[in-house]
Amino acid sequence: MRIVITIGGSIIISEFSHEMFRAYADILNSLRDEHDLFVVVGGGRPARDYIGVARELGASEARCDDIGIDVTRLNARLLITALGDSAYPGVPENFREALEVATTGRIVVMGGTEPAHSTDAVGAILAETVEADLMINLTSVDGFYDRDPAKYPDARFYPEITASDMLEHLRGSDVRAGTYEFFDHTALHMIRRSGIRTMIVNGNDPENLLRAIDGEIGTTVIPE
Ligand code: UTP
Repeated sequence: MRIVITIGGSIIISEFSHEMFRAYADILNSLRDEHDLFVVVGGGRPARDYIGVARELGASEARCDDIGIDVTRLNARLLITALGDSAYPGVPENFREALEVATTGRIVVMGGTEPAHSTDAVGAILAETVEADLMINLTSVDGFYDRDPAKYPDARFYPEITASDMLEHLRGSDVRAGTYEFFDHTALHMIRRSGIRTMIVNGNDPENLLRAIDGEIGTTVIPE
């Protein structure tokens, strides 16, 4: 299968240590003989910290986004470092470049592309570009809840939800630099328009990536 995997910055750089990068690299390397892999890495706390400083300096939202993008690319470079020879050594800056480097047969790792969306949208656009069979979004919760499960213990979990229903739930959520909430709108529009099979799973356990490929866990987003 051709799989696009998005790993939230909140997962991979939460502890600011090498361990999650190593754990994900080992799992990705174990999958690479069987699948074509494209990975998009998020910015996490460091991106928000940089954006916070830029905002205080009076930077526009787009310029804050641009700084966030640089941080996602740094995180991508760390994952490439952990993957070693199995990854293409550069970070594609757009989708055409990603397609080009995919011809090397190596794992393609990228971060953000342009302002006004998060790496969730990068994953969806990449999935459309490379005609992926599956997109897996590794995030810090078990999947989609109707409310933030950290704040509301009675939040309802959805094993399955349509992209349209998710858009409806997320209406009004924040779209400023550093705070594209839960799953960004652009990504959902892309999933709907291209019928991208998508799963949202908890990435705190990297083994969940394997379980997601087997379809065992998380929330499946139905592209309708
Ligand atoms: P993330 O994709 O990590 O955003 O990109 P996020 O959703 O805020 O954070 P996590 O990782 O899921 O917790 C970090 C920031 O970089 C900018 C945005 O400002 C985003 O909030 N960014 C990222 C872009 O502007 N364009 C991109 O393509 C990617």
